Amino acid sequence: MKVTIPPYVHSYPAPVILIGCGTVDNPNIITCSWFGTVCSEPPMVSVSIRQSRHSFPLVKETGEFTANIPRVSDLEKVEFCGYKSGRSVNKFKELKLTPLSCPPLDSAPMIEECSLILACKVKHEIPLGSHNMFIAEVVAVHCEEDMVRRTKTAVPFPEEQLIYLDKRYWTPKLLK
Ligand SMILES: Cc1cc2nc3c(=O)[nH]c(=O)nc-3n(C[C@H](O)[C@H](O)[C@H](O)COP(=O)(O)O)c2cc1C
Repeated sequence: MKVTIPPYVHSYPAPVILIGCGTVDNPNIITCSWFGTVCSEPPMVSVSIRQSRHSFPLVKETGEFTANIPRVSDLEKVEFCGYKSGRSVNKFKELKLTPLSCPPLDSAPMIEECSLILACKVKHEIPLGSHNMFIAEVVAVHCEEDMVRRTKTAVPFPEEQLIYLDKRYWTPKLLK
C-alpha cells in the first residue's frame, strides 16, 4: 500500500561539482549537487544556487562559472567548500588549490588540481524559489590528456565520480 507524503526532491542522485566563480585574483568555490545536463547541442548544463550564497552574485555578475569535477579523494575539499563560505575564508588558499584562468572565459577561475573542467557561460537565469537556476553553455572542456576518448569527449572515471544522495556520498556502479 502506498502512502502520500509532502512533495520532496532530495531522493534522486545528483553529481557533486565544485563550481569555480569570481575572478582569478578573487576566486571562490561552492560545492553544488543541484547540477545537471540540460542540452547536448549546444552543450548546456544547469546549476541551482541559493540567493544567500556568497557565490550567487559572483555567478550572476560575471555570467560565468567553471564546473570542476572532483574525485573520490577530493571528498574533504568538497565538504570544506560545501560548509564554509567565501565570505569568511579564501577556499583556494585554505585548501592549497590553484585558481587558473579558464579560456575562453573572461573571469571565472578553474581549479588546476581537478582533471576535468567545463567552462560555462550563463545564458538564462530562472528564479525558482529557494534557488535560482543558471542555465549555461559549455564553451570549452579542459581535461587531462588521458581522459580524451577517440570521439573527442571526456568523461570522469565513473568509479571516481562523487554522487550525493540522501545526504550521503556515493559512487556509481556499472550495471551493463
Ligand atoms: C554535497 C553538497 C551539495 C551542495 N549543493 C548545493 C547546491 O546545489 N546549491 C547551493 O546553493 N548550495 C549547495 N550546497 C551548499 C553550499 O555549497 C554551501 O552553502 C557553501 O558554503 C556556500 O559557499 P559560498 O557562501 O562561498 O558560496 C551544497 C553543499 C554540499 C555539502
